[in-house]
Amino acid sequence: RIVYLNGAFLPFEEAKVPVMDRGFLFADGIYEVSAVLDGRLVDNAAHLARLDRSLGEIGIRNPHSLDEWERLETELVARNGLAEGLVYMQVTRGVYERDFGFPPADTAPTVVMFTQAKTVAANPLAERGAKVITVEDIRWKRRDIKSVALLAQVLAKQAAVAAGVSEAWMVEDGAVTEGSSSTAFIVTQDRRLVTRPLSTALLPGITRAAVLRLAAEADLVVEERLFSVEEARAAQEAFYTSASSFVMPVVEIDGAAVGDGRPGPLGRRLRALYIEMAR
Ligand code: PDD
Repeated sequence: RIVYLNGAFLPFEEAKVPVMDRGFLFADGIYEVSAVLDGRLVDNAAHLARLDRSLGEIGIRNPHSLDEWERLETELVARNGLAEGLVYMQVTRGVYERDFGFPPADTAPTVVMFTQAKTVAANPLAERGAKVITVEDIRWKRRDIKSVALLAQVLAKQAAVAAGVSEAWMVEDGAVTEGSSSTAFIVTQDRRLVTRPLSTALLPGITRAAVLRLAAEADLVVEERLFSVEEARAAQEAFYTSASSFVMPVVEIDGAAVGDGRPGPLGRRLRALYIEMAR
């Protein structure tokens, strides 16, 4: 496996980051994940725009132009012979003696990229449907930044793993914010698509935006508003979206079946439309 690190393509074993890297010490950095389908990056320009925004929000200079990023990703995908999976990109504030304030402005950010092979399109879980649990959202107040500080999401996902389910939906003041690594959607009994509006309380999902565009084109009624756990449990359908799962139907929330307990027609249709768009 070939990894990109600070300008070089290296064998996995040789790609090493110093102990004083601020990503390691402070989680002082941001990341992105783009899907790869048939060897091509999916909706990558939108991921790179969010990467640029995340960097800007925490005052790290973007070390590459969007074209350079795309070229590096494309080369990494080719060098790894990746047909389907993910490209992970991370930028931290670089390596400097540990001190909370920013290092000098000329400190080079650390740039890491690697690929992961994964079946995203023909994923059997999408046929069965995923189960989710709900957990308290214990994160900070700038969830719109794709920060590498993911401890709350790690604990949420581990709670899901321990419960034998695929995802944890995080809940704040009774309303679902998002999944530990995905955006949450429900379909009401009168077939309206509901997802939380964008704010600093959640990540602006790239797949979310694509699904909302596809839903509008398909003349579905969309409501961007808060929804409670109770409303989600009583929904006709539910699904979650992300670069790593596309559109994933949800068939169970906290042990209770959603709808008839099988992937619903709207979720399945949006998944098919998304994959068609991605190809
Ligand atoms: N996670 N919300 C959170 C908290 C996320 O971590 C993610 C993505 C999403 C979905 O965003 P997008 O559609 O842009 O992938 C929503 C990535 C896949 C990850 O951490 O691996």
